[in-house]
Amino acid sequence: MIKVGMIGAGCMGGVHAAAYKRLTEARLVTICDLKREKAEKLAGDGVQVVTDYHDILQDPEIDVVDVCLPTYLHKKVVLEAAAAGKHVFCEKPIARSVEDAEAMVKACKDAGVKLGVGHVVRFFPDYYKVKDVLAGGAIGEAKVIRASRGGAFPAWPEDNWYADYAKSGGPIVDLIIHDFDFLRWVFGPVKRVFAKSLTGKHHMLDHALVTLRFENGIIAHVEGSWAQPPGTPFATTLEIAGTKGLYEYSNQDAMPIMLRTAEGEARASAVPESPLAVEPYTAQLQAFIKSIIDNTDVPVPGEEAIEALKIALAACESAETGEVVWLGGATRG
Ligand SMILES: NC(=O)c1ccc[n+]([C@@H]2O[C@H](COP(=O)([O-])OP(=O)(O)OC[C@H]3O[C@@H](n4cnc5c(N)ncnc54)[C@H](O)[C@@H]3O)[C@@H](O)[C@H]2O)c1
Repeated sequence: MIKVGMIGAGCMGGVHAAAYKRLTEARLVTICDLKREKAEKLAGDGVQVVTDYHDILQDPEIDVVDVCLPTYLHKKVVLEAAAAGKHVFCEKPIARSVEDAEAMVKACKDAGVKLGVGHVVRFFPDYYKVKDVLAGGAIGEAKVIRASRGGAFPAWPEDNWYADYAKSGGPIVDLIIHDFDFLRWVFGPVKRVFAKSLTGKHHMLDHALVTLRFENGIIAHVEGSWAQPPGTPFATTLEIAGTKGLYEYSNQDAMPIMLRTAEGEARASAVPESPLAVEPYTAQLQAFIKSIIDNTDVPVPGEEAIEALKIALAACESAETGEVVWLGGATRG
């Protein structure tokens, strides 16, 4: 049984704590939050509550440190966790800067511990099934993609850290990095990026439009929003236009996947297949824990999280400068 200590009992801490209750391979033994009452709220029977995360790092019983802290705090805690010999699961984005993220990857490598990052979209069936649809040839060769993600501004933290661009990176670094990671995972490296956003123009309101050109010629348009009225349901969409058909997904639809091809159109699941038999956040933690038990590669390694971060930071730079930003190593043309 893998024993987990979780640091941060906010929004994602709540999601992870619920996920661990569903896992048989791991047990959440300690929760840390500066605000004891938040950790207490999540702790079930037998779960210890602490307010100093060093108590988790110093506990020899704990195998894994799960970092659910605000993004700008990831680096400090991950470095200390690695030095304490703990495997680390860190929420996305891995860090606020590539330098921080690289230091985290290096620290975990040097310490011989695993580092997994919470790019959970890879565990959503409506997203990962795209790989099967493409491999099966139903929509032919993918050419143009549209993806969107967003809702109301994330106003839940008491210190409102999402409103501080230097801490969160706005919806480009915090939100649609999910899509950047997913699209890079499916379609390969991105060559250049162009973006527009409201960043800095309105307090607690942001909206971003990002165009990605992949090395293989695919174009993706990714929209991220923190500009919807409070209470608006969180919405995600994905549309992939191929040479032979269209893959459409919206989490707002009751039957969310639609395939439109020359042969006609069909809902991907005419009969409910219960794709969420294992809910995605549980599936990602389960896959990470399994990689420790089996000593195999982690599902989303730090190195891949860095690539997603590079795309996000290139989009931020483009939005700030108004210029196209080329990703390092990409060939111009
Ligand atoms: N994967 C996803 O779908 C998803 C969704 C939302 C957020 N996130 C990411 O998860 C991370 C956390 O976001 P959140 O919305 O849960 O933030 P949050 O503000 O709700 O929670 C963070 C918690 O950390 C606590 N904390 C701060 N400093 C601490 C310290 N030094 N020691 C102990 N506790 C401390 C705060 O009191 C707070 O309870 C961010 O990186 C965010 O980008 C991921």
